Amino acid sequence: MIRPVIAGNWKMNKTVAESVAFAVRLRAAYDASPGPEVIIAPPFTALQAVAEAIRGSFIRLSAQNLHESEKGAYTGEISGGMLREAGCTCVIIGHSERRTLFGEADDRINRKLRIALAAGLKPIFCIGESLQQREQGETEALIEHQLKEGLKNVTADDIRHFMIAYEPVWAIGTGKTASPEQAEKVHRFIREWIARRYGPECAAALAILYGGSVTPENIAGLMAQPDINGGLVGGASLDVDSFIRIIGC
Ligand code: PGA
Repeated sequence: MIRPVIAGNWKMNKTVAESVAFAVRLRAAYDASPGPEVIIAPPFTALQAVAEAIRGSFIRLSAQNLHESEKGAYTGEISGGMLREAGCTCVIIGHSERRTLFGEADDRINRKLRIALAAGLKPIFCIGESLQQREQGETEALIEHQLKEGLKNVTADDIRHFMIAYEPVWAIGTGKTASPEQAEKVHRFIREWIARRYGPECAAALAILYGGSVTPENIAGLMAQPDINGGLVGGASLDVDSFIRIIGC
């Protein structure tokens, strides 16, 4: 049985003060009735302060990105070790905004996944098709390609530390959620691919999150699907009351 996971990806939103205020409210609500595993991904500048605000609770802290090297002359970048030191235990890798707006290709994402593991961070590995790819019937081929390339040299031992997030690009920030059936079909495809590559035990233990216009209204329908183990929430995770409603699903 996989424990459900709700992760909030704040993207480039919230000051340190806003982030801490959110974390304090979330903690009070969550500690009173612990439900699914909860992860929040504030911007880099707020990580340390949020880590402090959630210390001793079960809420986990995630970064939104990291560099694929341990250290060095990479102006403006952040390493896995730095994120660990700031209190992160997870990191989002391969988000479609990183792929499309920042030109991150599969081989770079693969290096990021492997360096995250080496730093002791749990990757939330994002994959998903564009609208054009869906309309041309290429969804499964694209998902398979992203899995194959992203998981190069990733072992069965490693995959136990992963979460995968299926995020159809056409559903991110658009208000167009995939229907529970559409999402389930791709989640099942992902789990079957993992089972073939790493064995059924790894596949059965892998949390596969859905992301793309998740709201308090649609989360229950998505989570009712057998292969949907959680949500990666963007817009609706920014308001603490909305996020608490999603967790309480
Ligand atoms: P959204 O974003 O919930 O605003 O669609 C999801 C994501 O980008 O992870």
